[in-house]
Amino acid sequence: MYPLNRNRRLRNSEAMRDLVRETTLAPTDFLVPLFIVEGTKTKTEIPSMPGYFRFSLDLATQEAQRLYDMGVRGVLLFVKVADSDKDNTGAAALNAEGLMQRSIRAIKVAVPELVVCTDVALDPYSTYGHDGIVEANKIVNDATVEVLAQMALSHAESGADIVAPSDMMDGRILAIRNTLENAGYVHTGIMSYSAKYASSFYGPFRDALDSAPGFGDKKTYQMDVANRKEAVVETLRDIEEGADIVMVKPGMAYLDIVRDLANQIHVPIAVYQVSGEYAMLKAAAEKGWLDHDAVMLEQLIAFKRAGASLIVSYHAAEAIKLL
Ligand code: PBG
Repeated sequence: MYPLNRNRRLRNSEAMRDLVRETTLAPTDFLVPLFIVEGTKTKTEIPSMPGYFRFSLDLATQEAQRLYDMGVRGVLLFVKVADSDKDNTGAAALNAEGLMQRSIRAIKVAVPELVVCTDVALDPYSTYGHDGIVEANKIVNDATVEVLAQMALSHAESGADIVAPSDMMDGRILAIRNTLENAGYVHTGIMSYSAKYASSFYGPFRDALDSAPGFGDKKTYQMDVANRKEAVVETLRDIEEGADIVMVKPGMAYLDIVRDLANQIHVPIAVYQVSGEYAMLKAAAEKGWLDHDAVMLEQLIAFKRAGASLIVSYHAAEAIKLL
């Protein structure tokens, strides 16, 4: 008798749907970006990221504690660097008393169990707003890699659990891995932004850190948005070079890449739901055009369904409250 299969049987009640659900979201899925600025007692909303803030270190530490208490197990630190500390060599990025280094130490003291990940790239420190050293309008690879390795070491010395190079220079994972091993930091993890695209979704983040490129774009180092197989090549190479976690960035428009990787690699995959994605949903919700919470959760579950095991998201805290 037809039909033998009625697919709606398993959708018939909430309890039934709960029983057969393939993917779930938990507070431990998230890595939460923290934007840290100099000063004390300041919490400033980022204009293009409503509901998201830059914190002075004292308040960032409290925020880290609040997140940990909600069930978050990792944060990803970014710092806003004063213009007077920017140059073309990334010198300030190596300062043991720099804001990043102080932030790592303070958060590890305040919330020792929280996994502290750090952004490794020169753009916040660069007068040109580029992720590497500039010579004759070109971003030079190998000299940049040397600085990135020293920067990663400096973060490890300050107590970072995971360093996260977001620059897309060639060979930086191997250089960072060797530098960490040689210095005895054998337990410091590397989360590589392995498939990071030259995306136009990063605009609000560059406002947040005042790090927009002063000339040109990032297309000579970040990936061409039209490429798919190249993401596999980049990611396999980074795993060979010593990455512990790999990443796809941005998120929503790149779920095909997340799934390609999930089908063939066996280290954890992070996906970065970037600032522009966050801004789009906030703007549409402000206009009353989308149901904010429902769309937010739908997007987050889609990352898990695509194969990500970690989600870097500005929505983490508001999403966790709904779980
Ligand atoms: C820079 C960096 C960027 C982001 C994370 N690290 C911006 C860029 O590559 O220009 C973007 C994050 C976001 O948009 O949320 N190394």
